[in-house]
Amino acid sequence: MERKAEAKMRTQVGIIGAGPAGLMLARLLHLAGISSIIIENRSEDYIYGRIRAGLLEHWATDLLTDAGVGARMAQEGVVHWGNYLGINGELHRLDFKKLVDKRMTIYGQQEVVKDLVAQRRADGGPLLFEVDNVSVHEVTSERPQIRFTHDGKQQVIDCDFIAGCDGFHGICRPTFPADVLKVFEREYPFGWVGVLTESPPPDHELIYCYTDSGFALYTMRSLTVSRLYLQCDHDDDIANWSDDRIWQELHARLGSARKLQEGKILQKSITPMRSFVAEPMRYGRLLLAGDSAHIVPPTGAKGMNLAFSDVLYMSRALEAFYKQKNTERLEGYSATCLKRVWKAQRFSWWMTQILHRFPDETAFDRRRQLAELDYLTSSEAASTSLVEQYVGLPLE
Ligand code: APR
Ligand code: PHB
Repeated sequence: MERKAEAKMRTQVGIIGAGPAGLMLARLLHLAGISSIIIENRSEDYIYGRIRAGLLEHWATDLLTDAGVGARMAQEGVVHWGNYLGINGELHRLDFKKLVDKRMTIYGQQEVVKDLVAQRRADGGPLLFEVDNVSVHEVTSERPQIRFTHDGKQQVIDCDFIAGCDGFHGICRPTFPADVLKVFEREYPFGWVGVLTESPPPDHELIYCYTDSGFALYTMRSLTVSRLYLQCDHDDDIANWSDDRIWQELHARLGSARKLQEGKILQKSITPMRSFVAEPMRYGRLLLAGDSAHIVPPTGAKGMNLAFSDVLYMSRALEAFYKQKNTERLEGYSATCLKRVWKAQRFSWWMTQILHRFPDETAFDRRRQLAELDYLTSSEAASTSLVEQYVGLPLE
């Protein structure tokens, strides 16, 4: 077929998606002297407006700093050396410092994205927003291509590799042949109502609450803006959650150990809860990273952290390919990522199942959850196991 008036571009790595995965990958490749072009189908304002999680594991905070994009995080991020488990109103602190000597940092995903876009501009690398009709071609050859339209013009990028960083609804994963791709998934029979409020959090550290009325989480974006979550029904509608009902449930599930100050609700929505893994994460020269390959329920706060570990492994594999002509890491990319992904999946599922009410639970299940929470808060071995996973397991 003849393709007329097609603008051609050439790069080493074509990156689809300007979320945390695509943007961090571009930065790591730039530092390694590898060229890339990022294309994103949404607008720049849209990606800054998406409210997502905001908790960075210890090593991920260091990655941002080492990659030269940690300056604003160091100023505005909130560093935590512990958090709380609330069990029917009674708070138990998990001391990260004492147990594993590591910290977590609260810094909103959209702030990370803004910092990475600013860095991309400073690096002078191409970043195209509002592209349409994206497709990938010849991914099992040495010269895969990305086709798309931009400003009404047909464009093609000749690449050595394509990075599918296009999130759960992206176009890359569905191009894997059906007999190659295996999907593993679990849906949870509940969701979370999430609100962003103009009020201080009840504590400067996070509080995860197990209660007879369901799970609640008290987190924050800063010491004056809270991010608060309540377990809700599976197909619940946000219209069922008036501001009054939200505050009433937030007070009740927190109990009296802390005081919750009310403030203006800036945004509210319902987050579905799902575990999902696609295997393998590489087909030929198309490599998936982040949400395009896996989704975790938000309970363990692993989403953005896993996107970063994937692209760190990918950048190391590409660097070995270009600098040492070594393809071993590229061949092992999927297996290396999946080892970490599955441990984070297991942790997120486990946190979810010990803290929530389930529609089909029995009295036995409730007693078992309470026994597990009692064990976690009374045994140093058990709390160390939770905390070492929470702050992030060591990288390969
Ligand atoms: N072409 C170009 N861009 C696309 C396409 C497409 N066909 N489809 C999707 N995208 C873009 C999305 O608009 C989005 O900006 O890809 C980007 C993917 O970014 P994220 O969804 O943020 O995924 P990722 O970078 O893997 O980051 C994972 O995001 O959902 C959270 O909790 C998750 O924190 C985790 C993080
Ligand atoms: C958040 O701050 O949005 C957040 C923190 C911890 C979680 C989930 C979400 O486990």
